[in-house]
Amino acid sequence: MNQVATRNEKVKHGAEDAGRYFRYMAEFVGFTQAHADAIKESRYIIEKHIPDIVAQFYTNLLDYAPTRKLFLKKDNTIDQDYLQLRMHHLGNFWRRTASGVYDDDYARFVDYVGRAHTSHGADPNIYIPERYVIGQVGLVQHAIAEALHKELDQVDPDLASRASKAWNMLMMVILEMLARAYNDEHGGKADHAPMTISREAVRQLAVATYERDLGLYRSIEHKDLVVARAADIPEGERKVVQVDGLSIGVFHHKGNWYALRNSCLHRGGPVATGCLEGDILACPWHGYQYNVTNGELLLDPNAKLTMYPVEVRDGDVRLRVPFMVMDSPAVLLNQPSQAPAGQPLLKENEFRVSDVQPGRVKLVHLDSQRVAVYNVGGHLYATQEECTHADGPLSEGEFKGKTIICPWHDSCFDVTNGQVLEGPATQPLKTFRVIAEGDIARVE
Ligand code: HEM
Repeated sequence: MNQVATRNEKVKHGAEDAGRYFRYMAEFVGFTQAHADAIKESRYIIEKHIPDIVAQFYTNLLDYAPTRKLFLKKDNTIDQDYLQLRMHHLGNFWRRTASGVYDDDYARFVDYVGRAHTSHGADPNIYIPERYVIGQVGLVQHAIAEALHKELDQVDPDLASRASKAWNMLMMVILEMLARAYNDEHGGKADHAPMTISREAVRQLAVATYERDLGLYRSIEHKDLVVARAADIPEGERKVVQVDGLSIGVFHHKGNWYALRNSCLHRGGPVATGCLEGDILACPWHGYQYNVTNGELLLDPNAKLTMYPVEVRDGDVRLRVPFMVMDSPAVLLNQPSQAPAGQPLLKENEFRVSDVQPGRVKLVHLDSQRVAVYNVGGHLYATQEECTHADGPLSEGEFKGKTIICPWHDSCFDVTNGQVLEGPATQPLKTFRVIAEGDIARVE
């Protein structure tokens, strides 16, 4: 709980004057209620362009090594899940900014976002040099001007001009709000050559994230699943279950049942395993707090953990989970979607031996189960990917000799037999057979 209190203090500290500071800057650049109204009037146009703006934003960050490194996994491939989390937050940020409402809450929100990029944010290990934030504000400013120009010049040139002016002023205020978080923190060099990232892949991911946030799936099917006996989850208890690769926390709380996605909106932490006091659930990683009864993030009620319908029937706890059918961008960022010429396409439980060099780990799937494959001195081993303690993703953990260390709570396992070497985990990992034929191997 200490961690939670400290973080909340931090979030409050410095944010109290955010509204006053925002108004001061707004007045200084000449931003009035009429400008806010112009932004509100054109909000749907900007909303339509948010996926493209988010895509441009991350394409730029992924093109440059110093910003790209924030989105890489240990094996140097892009962490697509984390990137989607960030896309989700950024889409929210611009949607809220386009709403035309700039009250104290909004000002505190921008102030807090500014600090998220500095060592004063929730994660003190994250530090984004100010120059990149400034650059990204410029990029978005340009993208918004382009969108207004393209959509409105012919049909409503008056609104195009009013909204463009208003956005330009607002961006200056936002820039100052984000920049003031840095105080005197400056450092590093600015001499990095750009790299290249597939623009189309980033665009598809941004569109998919936005569509998912707005509930615009191409089609949704549902599965009803029995996940426990009600008697197994007494009042005040919870159970974390895995459904199609989704981790979901099922809570029996004050006589009601709630099911929430077990992935904190901040960094994907195992929020459902966190401390629950009253209705407030705190993620064990950085203390992000949610209302367990509706999934709302306390800091920004627009941001919610996904909730799933859950009920008890005939003593069974039944969960209704959506099964989303969409053109998945899963893909795209790290692996070619097509096999290279002359090479066979791989099934979900297959992989190339050459892709798992000694000392490396790879994630594959067997039916819907996640399996981690390890190379120990040229020999391949496979275990379940979820840690037996709190479902931490072992394929993202540190791998030394034949020991994998869970990235969440540091449980250690021997990957050759699944045995626990060090807790908190107490149960061994399930192991799988690996069969290699030439460069293609599979788990069974
Ligand atoms: C226009 C400039 C920017 C805006 C509006 C923006 C917006 C945001 C928002 C809304 C959050 C979520 C805060 C939270 O709830 O945790 C965030 C966090 C984050 N942003 Fe940005 N961002 C900007 C620039 C950048 C840049 C240049 C980078 C460089 C890589 C970056 C990387 C990150 C990272 C890594 C986090 C997570 C911080 C944490 O885990 O505590 N952002 N940003």
